[in-house]
Amino acid sequence: MKEILERAKIVNEAIKYYLPEKDLELYKAARHLIKAGGKRLRPVIAMMITEALEEDYRKIMPAIVALEAIHNFTLIHDDIMDRDEMRRNVKTVHTVFGEATAILAGDTLFAEAFSLLSKCEVPGENIRRAIEIVADVCIKICEGQYMDMSFESRNVKEPEYLEMVKLKTGVLLAASSSLPAVLFGKNELFKPLWDYGIFAGIGFQIHDDVLDLIGENIGKDWGSDLVKGKKTLVVIKAFEDGVELRTFGKQKAEVNEIKKDVEKLLECGAIDYAKRKAYEYIELAKKNLRFLKNSEKKEELERLTDFLVKRRN
Ligand code: IPE
Ligand code: IPE
Ligand code: MG
Ligand code: MG
Ligand code: MG
Repeated sequence: MKEILERAKIVNEAIKYYLPEKDLELYKAARHLIKAGGKRLRPVIAMMITEALEEDYRKIMPAIVALEAIHNFTLIHDDIMDRDEMRRNVKTVHTVFGEATAILAGDTLFAEAFSLLSKCEVPGENIRRAIEIVADVCIKICEGQYMDMSFESRNVKEPEYLEMVKLKTGVLLAASSSLPAVLFGKNELFKPLWDYGIFAGIGFQIHDDVLDLIGENIGKDWGSDLVKGKKTLVVIKAFEDGVELRTFGKQKAEVNEIKKDVEKLLECGAIDYAKRKAYEYIELAKKNLRFLKNSEKKEELERLTDFLVKRRN
């Protein structure tokens, strides 16, 4: 989407400025993933919302970069936890630099994010509130990631899955959509913008789970969720219908074996079920934008929201 790419370019320039490279090897590790690209959706959401609120995103650019820094910190640690080797078409940070350095690289980005938040050109009390929100969001992501891991060894039902994805993914999208309101002191808009991000994030994560199975060239390990035994909405639904998957939780499997399982998941309707659910959450997200007056910016934002479940990577 042109609107996303244009803004992502601006974000990339800001990343170079606010997250500079340094000689120490640690910084090579901390910048490895963020330099490899990515869609920059969280910063772009924050920029589009700021524009829709008729404010100047340049004043909060450090916070916009902070959102991407936090996202990258969670990805670096997530890849250690999920034992994945590829992301954004490059080797994962721990694969290149080793686990210990990757943990530190993530920690570095995490701390840099808070340092950046304090640099926005808005009243200090708004920054204080933003820091509190982002810190709470990071705690919730840890809770969600913990649930994700613990689900590998037990039975899970749909409501628990939805709570898990709300925490591991939804809250960071919610921070991205609601932080502009907080930083510009429009506190009455916090709630609908937060809810927007939560619903959008749940739809986004369900779609991510679908892409893990039927995506092409996703830039990360394909079929990873299946072989790692992740309780995605797709497999929860399939298991409820008594489908048996040969590669589930096997840790390693041949491409052909995974393809056979994906075939089963398509045939039993579990993938379609998840796709429908993702669309439902995107519709719920868009409903929370009803307070915005109709404008070009609002339409752009709605198109971005649809893109979250139409994207191919
Ligand atoms: C991947 O997020 C992690 C999830 C929450 C599913 P993105 O799909 O936004 O990853 P990048 O930033 O574009 O690489
Ligand atoms: C991502 O979930 C959640 C966070 C990074 C917090 P996944 O484990 O599904 O993300 P990918 O597929 O590795 O990007
Ligand atoms: Mg992962
Ligand atoms: Mg994970
Ligand atoms: Mg995934």
